[in-house]
Amino acid sequence: MSTTHEAGWAHAPGGLRGPSWLREPADPNALVPSLWSGTAHKVDGDLVVGGMAVADVVAEHNTPAYVLDEADFRARARAFREAFAAYDVFYAGKAFLCTEVARWVAQEGLNLDVCSAGELTVALRAGFDPARIGYHGNNKTHPELRRAVDAGVGRIVVDSFDEIERLTRITADLGRTQTVMVRVTAGVEAHTHEYISTANEDQKFGFSINHGDAFRAVQAVLAAPGLELAGLHSHIGSQIFVTSGFEVAARRVLALHARVSEELGVELPEMDLGGGYGIAYTTQDDPSDPAQLATEMTKIVEHECRALGIAQPRLSIEPGRAIVGPAVCTVYTVGTVKPVTLDGGAVRTYVSVDGGMSDNIRTALYDADYSCTLAARTSEAPPVLVRVVGKHCEAGDIVVRDEFLPGDVAPGDLLAVPGTGAYCRSMASNYNHALRPPVIAVRDGEARVIVRRETEDDLLATDVGA
Ligand code: LLP
Repeated sequence: MSTTHEAGWAHAPGGLRGPSWLREPADPNALVPSLWSGTAHKVDGDLVVGGMAVADVVAEHNTPAYVLDEADFRARARAFREAFAAYDVFYAGKAFLCTEVARWVAQEGLNLDVCSAGELTVALRAGFDPARIGYHGNNKTHPELRRAVDAGVGRIVVDSFDEIERLTRITADLGRTQTVMVRVTAGVEAHTHEYISTANEDQKFGFSINHGDAFRAVQAVLAAPGLELAGLHSHIGSQIFVTSGFEVAARRVLALHARVSEELGVELPEMDLGGGYGIAYTTQDDPSDPAQLATEMTKIVEHECRALGIAQPRLSIEPGRAIVGPAVCTVYTVGTVKPVTLDGGAVRTYVSVDGGMSDNIRTALYDADYSCTLAARTSEAPPVLVRVVGKHCEAGDIVVRDEFLPGDVAPGDLLAVPGTGAYCRSMASNYNHALRPPVIAVRDGEARVIVRRETEDDLLATDVGA
């Protein structure tokens, strides 16, 4: 059924408008450049990334697939290193890590953050210099810590009194000294567009500054013979756009830093301000570039240090999403297109693709917004508002909640979703025994599989029942 209305079908009574921020595009074939990796563009409807038509990439490697624009990843890593030249920049591997990417991180002069034994294994397998690795986690086991110390990990970010005790025993056993940082909770809850400066301390990470635990943790580390305290560490959240949250956190962490110097006579040489810089998933998001971030963060810290009358510690940051997020798009094949009539008569078009919440859980888990485009043809058909869903047995299995696609979207079409580099492959699952997709690096007209697609043999390999 079509309804005529001067502003278009979606504006008709009973029609679906989608969220208020989503505008019907003048041309649904066009890319919105701010959402795509640096080399992405369209040539006669063909999405080209890294000099390769993604249609050619998936003709060989099949869908779904994560297509990683190597030049874009490297450029973003470099931009952070150059903008934050006076800092140490740690790439947060939890956003996405494999051995090849760990090598790019090293080649671009960044350090690496890991937060699990598995991530450490990948980094070491890649030959990443352990001295340039930071190790996070709120519940590191004795064997994990022992291995990290033994491997010569540059710094371990301690997160509990139990861990400080464990590390004290391990360093004594191994006859080693380990550099550590103390993870503190600044009592700042950072949201995407706001922060609440009233303490949000009801969570598992860090030592509370407010309640004195952070100071006591510093004392405990200083008293431990095998531990060398480099400084305080603060991470306030992720996908943050405003620096006001960082400002409040930096002020509180620097105040503790100053207290350590004053009351304990110890000048901590370093401080880590964590990661969390936001990226553009849709036209709603307007992230700052690394140069702007560096200018603002540096101004905040300089101002606070001046006010406290203390020397500035060497700073480090830990961006993950802002480096890998925009570098990847996920390419799917459309399987079914189903118009569904809603109460009131409006019709929502459900476009089902051959992946879903197993390769991108973020929409279901965080209500995240994404966008998408047809990747292998142009269309003159007027745009329709669609919902892109996966193939899993769950109604919440949504990939792109609202997007305008050409109205003739059909089975067999290739669909590409940008901004899927961070926390998609790294949070992927085998739900419904899905096979996790490959990561294919594209660069200068060449495609290279750097993480292969899982096979049914991989699934059966762990199923050891008779
Ligand atoms: N440093 C620490 C200590 C962290 O906990 C994190 C992220 C980062 C750095 C990197 O944050 P980024 O720059 O990537 O925002 N799965 C969620 C995000 C969880 C972030 C966890 N910690 C998502 O998909 O949005």
